[in-house]
Amino acid sequence: ILAGVLFDLDGVITDTAELHYKAWKELADELGIPFDQAYNEKLKGVDRMSSLRLILQNSDRKFTFEEMEELANRKNERYRELLTTLTPEALLPGVRKLLKALRREGIRTAVASASRNAPTVIEKLGVADLFDYVADAGAVALQKPDAEIFLKAAEGLGVHPLRCIGIEDAEAGVMSIHRAGMPAVGIGTPETLPDADHHVSGPGELTPALLREWMKQFP
Ligand code: G6P
Ligand code: MG
Repeated sequence: ILAGVLFDLDGVITDTAELHYKAWKELADELGIPFDQAYNEKLKGVDRMSSLRLILQNSDRKFTFEEMEELANRKNERYRELLTTLTPEALLPGVRKLLKALRREGIRTAVASASRNAPTVIEKLGVADLFDYVADAGAVALQKPDAEIFLKAAEGLGVHPLRCIGIEDAEAGVMSIHRAGMPAVGIGTPETLPDADHHVSGPGELTPALLREWMKQFP
């Protein structure tokens, strides 16, 4: 029986990938490191420091831990500036309707994102009050593809993990959901997310009935 739905944020509720890209791109340009949209795909669902490491891999110089912290902070400040432009219009179609329908049916909802900016983002999107819990990405020791963030989200809802379903747009996130013992809904295709149990092109295609059905089918 479905009791909780755990949402990734970037790429599932809204499309902030473009803003993350802009902020990283400015930093990479300053450092003279090649970086483009295609490489940015690798950063989806990946936490801030690991993303920075992936970018610095393409530099010929080495960076100290202090330098890396400074660079990660700089990117985040730029990203937060870009977030001030975010409005409810940036919600992916159907998200608000889905969250309301889930609430009406007594199914609890949480955000399980690697982003430490998740609380700000859902606030700016005007859906903060429609989520019952936001897992704290800053308090997670093991990032996606580890199960921790999804388990913490279920715990925060007070719902057993085996009664939750997860929604993701990144392969690392799908693995994370499966390691938590939950069925994974992929926002994408069987080509982009081969391990997801079900695929939709956007959250607007989801309904409580459909999620319940998929929960039932899961071994
Ligand atoms: C999400 C995004 C990543 C981002 C990560 C950390 O997983 O898909 O692109 O790097 O969150 O976000 P943060 O806001 O904490 O830097
Ligand atoms: Mg995502």
